Amino acid sequence: MVRDACKDDFKILCDIENKCFIHPFNEEQMRYEMFSNPVSQYLVFELNGVVIGFIDYWVTFDSSTITQIAVLPLYRRHGFAQELLSEAMKDCKAKKAMTMTLEVRKSNVAAISLYHKNGFKLITTKPHYYTDGEDALYMVKEL
Ligand SMILES: CC(C)(COP(=O)(O)OP(=O)(O)OC[C@H]1O[C@@H](n2cnc3c(N)ncnc32)[C@H](O)[C@@H]1OP(=O)(O)O)[C@@H](O)C(=O)NCCC(=O)NCCS
Repeated sequence: MVRDACKDDFKILCDIENKCFIHPFNEEQMRYEMFSNPVSQYLVFELNGVVIGFIDYWVTFDSSTITQIAVLPLYRRHGFAQELLSEAMKDCKAKKAMTMTLEVRKSNVAAISLYHKNGFKLITTKPHYYTDGEDALYMVKEL
């Protein structure tokens, strides 16, 4: 099931972050995102009482942005990211956001496929967007 993240999820979300990203947010960045950033919202996917994935997004006036989505490797390809994304889109729409944007690594086939499937359109490529020099695809969906 998808639910709002709570304070007790902090450690497990840091762990998922570390296991899912090549350049993960450190604990300080995660702490800011979870507890201080006023526009940031976290949803988690809980399976049999265990958190196995999350999505982080920002809602700012009439637009929203996905900053992170991750599911632990063992639990991938079961539709859990899809459920997280669907709930996030529903929430953003309810908060009157009209668009949802994101950047994704050009090489991230799984995430790009997830976004295409959900109606995100490629707007442009941002060259050398990531610190390791990889390009980002900038994608947008009308909500
Ligand atoms: C991207 C990610 C979140 C997908 O999680 P998931 O739970 O496995 O995704 P789902 O099972 O919900 O799949 C939904 C859709 O995503 C796409 N998809 C997911 N994994 C895929 C893969 N390995 N190859 C191709 N498409 C894939 C498919 O379109 C899939 O729909 P389908 O099952 O009908 O084909 C997961 O691979 C992940 O955590 N990756 C590491 C973190 C990351 O890169 N996040 C994105 C940052 S922008």
